[in-house]
Amino acid sequence: MIEIAPSILSADFAQLGDHVRAAAAGGATLLHVDVMDGHFVPNISIGPPVVASLRKATELPLDVHLMIENPDQYIPAFADAGADWISVHQEACVHLHRTLGLIRSHNLNVGVVINPSTPVGTLEDVLDMVDHVLVMSVNPGFGGQKFIPMALDKVRKLVVARADRRLNFRIEIDGGIIADNIADVARAGVEIFVAGNSVYGKGDPAENVRHLRKLATEATLQRV
Ligand code: DX5
Ligand code: ZN
Repeated sequence: MIEIAPSILSADFAQLGDHVRAAAAGGATLLHVDVMDGHFVPNISIGPPVVASLRKATELPLDVHLMIENPDQYIPAFADAGADWISVHQEACVHLHRTLGLIRSHNLNVGVVINPSTPVGTLEDVLDMVDHVLVMSVNPGFGGQKFIPMALDKVRKLVVARADRRLNFRIEIDGGIIADNIADVARAGVEIFVAGNSVYGKGDPAENVRHLRKLATEATLQRV
């Protein structure tokens, strides 16, 4: 199923509730929440209190993307705050197997993320532990950056690995997704599209989500 996951990083934090409801009205089925610590990435965003407020403001599942060092230390707080999905960066986890197990122990959807410079092969030994793999198509830290096309090769490799090993993880992409590239990305095999600037940057967020979802769905139907 194609899912558009608006990233609230590009929303107006003073109007978060309204912006989230607008995205849901346009057909968003997931809400992407970017957590940045100023260490793993050169920016600081939000923490568990905002996740707890979002939990009260929407019924959409909350897809929490941790761009932080020492994620083990904070996973319980995000779980308690109401996260439904938690994704951690391969690059931030020395004991990735343990960290993914910790997320699972909270009965959450488990995700692993790779930066543009990290090969898909580094995930080989954890692919059977995750519900989704998040491929970064920008260097994480900021919204509104340009899509890095090399991410599509990673997506194609993940599609092959999933088929070869008869696994079921879903493939999510994050960074620079816009109306001009979403069809190509869908045809490569992505099912879950994070979209920040292209939802909240200009125009009506609900209409933007509707348009992106339509383009991705049509492209997926063409994929044989
Ligand atoms: C980047 C974040 C993204 C970001 C996407 O570090 O992980 O989720 O908000 O924003 P756009 O869609 O504008 O690239
Ligand atoms: Zn993100």
